[in-house]
Amino acid sequence: MCGIVGYIGPREAAGICYEGLRRLEYRGYDSAGIAVIRDGRMDVVKRVGKLRILGETLAAEPMPGPLAIGHTRWATHGKPSETNSHPHLSCDGKIAVVHNGIIENYAELRDQLTAEGHEFKSQTDTEVIAHLVEKLYDGDIFQAVLKAIEVMRGAYAIAVITEHEPDKIVAARLRSPLVIGIGEGENYVASDMAAVRQETDKVYVIDDGEAAIVTRDDIKLFKVTGEPIAKDPYVIPWPAEAAAKGEHKHFMHKEIHEQPEAMRACLAGRITEAADRVILESLNMTPEEIRGLKKVILTACGTAYHAGLVGRFMIEKLARIPAECDLAAELQARDPVILDNTLGIVISQSGETMDTLLALRELKAKGAKVVAVVNRVDSVIARESDGVVYIQAGPEIGVASTKAYTGQILTLEMIAVHFAEVRQTAPEAELKALRRALLACPDQAVELLRREPDVVKLAEKYWQLHNSLYLGRGINLPSAMEGALKLKEISYVHAEAYSAGEMKHGPIALVCPDLYTVAIAVQGQVYEQMVGNMQEIRARSGPVIGVVNDGDEAIREHLDDPILVPPCPELVSPITIALPLQLLAYHIADIRGEDIDQPRNLAKTVTVE
Ligand code: G6P
Repeated sequence: MCGIVGYIGPREAAGICYEGLRRLEYRGYDSAGIAVIRDGRMDVVKRVGKLRILGETLAAEPMPGPLAIGHTRWATHGKPSETNSHPHLSCDGKIAVVHNGIIENYAELRDQLTAEGHEFKSQTDTEVIAHLVEKLYDGDIFQAVLKAIEVMRGAYAIAVITEHEPDKIVAARLRSPLVIGIGEGENYVASDMAAVRQETDKVYVIDDGEAAIVTRDDIKLFKVTGEPIAKDPYVIPWPAEAAAKGEHKHFMHKEIHEQPEAMRACLAGRITEAADRVILESLNMTPEEIRGLKKVILTACGTAYHAGLVGRFMIEKLARIPAECDLAAELQARDPVILDNTLGIVISQSGETMDTLLALRELKAKGAKVVAVVNRVDSVIARESDGVVYIQAGPEIGVASTKAYTGQILTLEMIAVHFAEVRQTAPEAELKALRRALLACPDQAVELLRREPDVVKLAEKYWQLHNSLYLGRGINLPSAMEGALKLKEISYVHAEAYSAGEMKHGPIALVCPDLYTVAIAVQGQVYEQMVGNMQEIRARSGPVIGVVNDGDEAIREHLDDPILVPPCPELVSPITIALPLQLLAYHIADIRGEDIDQPRNLAKTVTVE
């Protein structure tokens, strides 16, 4: 789970690669490196720690040259160290490789190459590629890479350069993302479009089993079997600023504030203006298939899993289909029963998370049709699914997922409403009210963001406490889980999420003045029970922040501090409730001075099991 870049052209390649890496830092950030070829000689710099440390080195000791590759790393094989950082070099130092992915048979290859006299410096799987290409090099770097690919098993996006042929970058892909940025008199290689968007809006999206030779003036595309291919450039639909922080202190803050727009893009064309129908053609399901569904299994990781829990609730409640939601990493172990007409729904912002991808494959292997709810267009999860509904949130860079979460719920709610329409399992009046409420979400999000100063005051009051409890019930139990996850992942404050009904069976023992509780008590089916739970906590001197509706005066006596949200149908409330809880986590972490966009030990996209 790393990011790779490359540049060839008239400008200073190292600087352009560094800028590209800055936009890929979300993929990993424990060490980084760049290799430059100038006047036929390779020069390499590597640094442990955040990318800016590499930037400081480059500023102090510039590495001019027209050809470079770079890498930002999140350690899998071998701890973060300069030796383990990429680029990795051949024995003679004339070939450099950057790699995102895992070479599964690296131990075997390493033993063979060592026996043949190659000397390894690092503990990484990637280094075998450099030695393998060196061994197979016979005057043509592209052919040497293709031969190396023949013996490599696993996943990779690679970029390779050599002193022998300092006029090209060779790149190839299997199961890790790769794009080639198209410039004029200069070209780029990168793990994703965000890394090159500052420079160009046109890219070739490289597919599995494809490779490229990238020179200043030309890009040649091939199958890894060597036959040339042609493809149309993809025009990146979002502006360059979408991948930059702008006036915001952190990407997370920017992305929280982008939610009204992201929601509008997600809804566009999917609910008719009169709110009488949901249109989701890309689901790729006929009305007969939807009517025949016997079971739905949703699966995802992290924040996307919480969205999946909301989706499960909606699908079961509205479309009356038995629905389950699994953590993707647990799905295989559970060995779920797949009936005829079982639908899998996999949810992923990146479309690359390995556990989710493996769960998708498991569901398909067992005979389920699988639909993906994904943000990243053309990602591997999107491609391997039978249908895909893109959430249209634009690039999400902050490690803590925000706008993708609300987009995922919005999409799953539309799917549930659509299923209910087709199956006629809910009264049209209820469905219409839900469609209207979904269409109103962007405006409600604007209003909630306007209330940010109220959340800042809460953060200022509670930031010093080290423990918190998030309680919800029904469709807002996942909201409590997501609120707690946001807080713990960026502020390192212990946050425990529980069903409010379960609280009396254990967590109530924790309640004391030093532990605050965030209780979600908006109007709806579980409101009265939530009020009872809040009373139980306050009776034990625990401070309560209540997420409650505007105008609900009666509940005020049962809480210490309110977070006010505009009323909406309970089934839609997880979307709006998410925003103030994201802001609360953000401001607590900000006051605590934490590195919000790059929390310790985490990475945005986890492409390992
Ligand atoms: C990582 C990220 C989370 C994210 C999860 C699933 O753990 O830190 O923010 O929710 O992966 O990612 P996905 O891209 O599949 O939604």
